[in-house]
Amino acid sequence: MIDLHCHMLPGIDDGPDTLEEALALCRHAVASGITHSVVTPHIHPGRYENDASTIPSAVSALRDALVREGIPLQLGYSGEVRISAEILPMVLANRIPFHGEWKGKRVLLLEFPHSHILPGSDKLVKWLLQRNIIPMIAHPERNKDIMRDVSRMHEFVQMGCLFQVTSGSLSGRFGEIAEQRAKEIVAEGWATVLASDAHNLKARPPELADGLAVAIELLGEEAALRLVQDNPWEIVACQFEGAA
Ligand SMILES: [Fe+2]
Repeated sequence: MIDLHCHMLPGIDDGPDTLEEALALCRHAVASGITHSVVTPHIHPGRYENDASTIPSAVSALRDALVREGIPLQLGYSGEVRISAEILPMVLANRIPFHGEWKGKRVLLLEFPHSHILPGSDKLVKWLLQRNIIPMIAHPERNKDIMRDVSRMHEFVQMGCLFQVTSGSLSGRFGEIAEQRAKEIVAEGWATVLASDAHNLKARPPELADGLAVAIELLGEEAALRLVQDNPWEIVACQFEGAA
């Protein structure tokens, strides 16, 4: 399985603090059936000052440690970009890393605040689409506006956004409402991928099997496997140079 959203680089955001903790997350990912993890540090101006120039060296260091420790996890990278006006100049200055491509468009993992959908989010999405960038909206099932009213997603569905549902939401790790919303989003066929959004071993571990089991109940095995294998691979294969 391929995990497109996780925080496993040490000391760079609210993921692991140390290399040892990061390696423990990587070992857990492998034990959980994950072969490829695309690490996505927060890019949140004013809070987490990561960008395309700072992330690759942290990725290289963790890749070296994986080889040293004999942990068979392939690492790619991108970022989880918090929506704000400040990201527009960052996009124009090539400071935002992309996951890869989906149907000819570059894929950007876009995070809304958990509290609500900011006014103007639709305009920012259109601005990105005009530049051949397709937003993959992170964990819509955990956004409070969408938790209150799932129809708040419609305009983003209609604009062609991709959606990343968090595996643990499907299995109830984030409460009943997030579970219900996650199931609705998957059952509607809106989810592009399931991802772990891993931060640590306890509350948010790098696992996909729990969500996959629920997705199989909802969609059947073939369609559910697309969410953890085919679709994420289509987006990120270019990062791994065909080495599956
Ligand atoms: Fe995240």
